[in-house]
Amino acid sequence: MNIKDHIGSIPGFPKEGIIFRDVTPILECPEAFEEVTKQLSQFARDVQADVIIGPEARGFFFGIPVANELKLPFVPVRKPGKLPRKTISETYELEYGTDTLCMHADSLKPENRVVIIDDLLATGGTVEAIVKLVEKQQAKVAGIGFVIELDDLKGKSKFEGIPVCSLVHFE
Ligand code: PRP
Ligand code: ADE
Repeated sequence: MNIKDHIGSIPGFPKEGIIFRDVTPILECPEAFEEVTKQLSQFARDVQADVIIGPEARGFFFGIPVANELKLPFVPVRKPGKLPRKTISETYELEYGTDTLCMHADSLKPENRVVIIDDLLATGGTVEAIVKLVEKQQAKVAGIGFVIELDDLKGKSKFEGIPVCSLVHFE
């Protein structure tokens, strides 16, 4: 099973100059989805996660199956105006544009060891915002797992001291 064979590459989406790395073929292939879930779950187990966090929307694709596999809680990170209880928020930069992410203010305990799961590491702005949200609640980021890392953007340099696992690399 080669996970990279199940990632689409679409030049010019969502705008010129971007090659969009599409994970939906993984979701459409149960064997590939199972393998991705297995590898990310093993990473989360190795760093002794007790909570899994993922951002909407593509972080949910992979974070929820990992939490379910490990029988751990899943905490959703969402865009503003979506979560019903009191939230905390952080604004971050994307490869294309800026946005704000929120999580429930009571979702973590200070003793938690959190693993953040997302589909793709580009600039690292999204997950850097999530690290700040976790640390605002005094919890620890035990690790960060991605399906794809875009090496040339050097997003990983934002996470020195935190174990990072990326299953597939593109330039
Ligand atoms: C994409 C992707 C990552 C993020 C990576 O999400 O799913 O979360 O961008 O970019 P970064 O490392 O430069 O922050 P997007 O905000 O496009 O939202 P979506 O998952 O709802 O499509
Ligand atoms: N998010 C940020 N950059 C991306 C890319 N090149 N492909 C897919 N999702 C992305």
